Amino acid sequence: MNSIKLIAAGLAASASLIAFNAKAEGSLNLICSADVVICEQMQGDFQKETGISVNMVRLSSGETYAKIRAEARNPKTDIWWGGTGDPHLQAAAENLTEEYKSPMLGELQDWAVKQAESADYKTVGIYAGALGWGYNTEIFASKGWKEPKCWADLLDPALKGEIQMANPNSSGTAYTALGSLVQIMGEDEAYDYMEKLNANISQYTKSGSAPVKAAARGETGLGIVFMHDAVAQTAEGFPVKSVAPCEGTGYEIGSMSIVKGAKNVENAKKWYDWALSAPVQSRMKDAKSFQLPSNKSAEIPKEAPRFEDIKLIDYDFKTYGEPERRKALLERWDREIGAKAN
Ligand code: G6P
Repeated sequence: MNSIKLIAAGLAASASLIAFNAKAEGSLNLICSADVVICEQMQGDFQKETGISVNMVRLSSGETYAKIRAEARNPKTDIWWGGTGDPHLQAAAENLTEEYKSPMLGELQDWAVKQAESADYKTVGIYAGALGWGYNTEIFASKGWKEPKCWADLLDPALKGEIQMANPNSSGTAYTALGSLVQIMGEDEAYDYMEKLNANISQYTKSGSAPVKAAARGETGLGIVFMHDAVAQTAEGFPVKSVAPCEGTGYEIGSMSIVKGAKNVENAKKWYDWALSAPVQSRMKDAKSFQLPSNKSAEIPKEAPRFEDIKLIDYDFKTYGEPERRKALLERWDREIGAKAN
């Protein structure tokens, strides 16, 4: 064989080896409900480290829950990573997700383990973050509006059409806002508040972090979002300030679940253990994902809003994660708020 033929034969052999490996390692169907940048980073890193090819779709938390529910008899998803904990708990309550006791549980913060225990190990906490908002400091300064420090300040008539939040049917962020307001004010008062707030809202977006991205770009004055999503915009260089509401606020336990009947369940478990490890969680900040990590040894990003500095309510994840409670709150929201949206 001359040398060209030798190289060609070598290339063909290594190409079939790669094809064989990819086949041997198989694939994983992932729905990612966090920000798309961290979703892509996780997808790429896992593929590189394991050889397993990952088909990833980014969907908001409520949308994912609806999809997994609709596909229960023929699941197309193996693993659901990210998004607020409530819909993960609802999926667990409806037996849509698989029990798994990861060997990594011992490395996790109590709040992450509690999340797993309360759902018979059908989900687990991967990160935490407090709800608040981010506002565009340049817009507020140029209009002479005062700093919005409290939920009550968001009702100022000057802010008409200047606030965005997500729709709680699709977004876990907005469902956390709904659940938090009900727990802070009481149900009737919270709906009364949201009805008044509606006058200032220009748009209910599908995804939870979209409102503060709009505020960063000057398309709106303020977005009700998780505080770490506001901080991410500041880190991108936009004139955004994040606020922890003075009356108190709720928080999320971002979660992960294996779908019941997953076709690639062994690869889903590999992802699960990998995603709970300290090195993987420490790298989240590289994607400007500034949540508090669930692994005790993971590095807490310096940008992460710290719970010690925020007036947090004792958010009742169990009650607000119950399918009936969620359904009732969302139906009332559709009737009293969504139907009257601008
Ligand atoms: C952002 C946050 C996450 C959160 C997610 C929920 O990506 O960074 O911490 O879990 O929003 O998304 P959703 O679109 O369901 O509100």
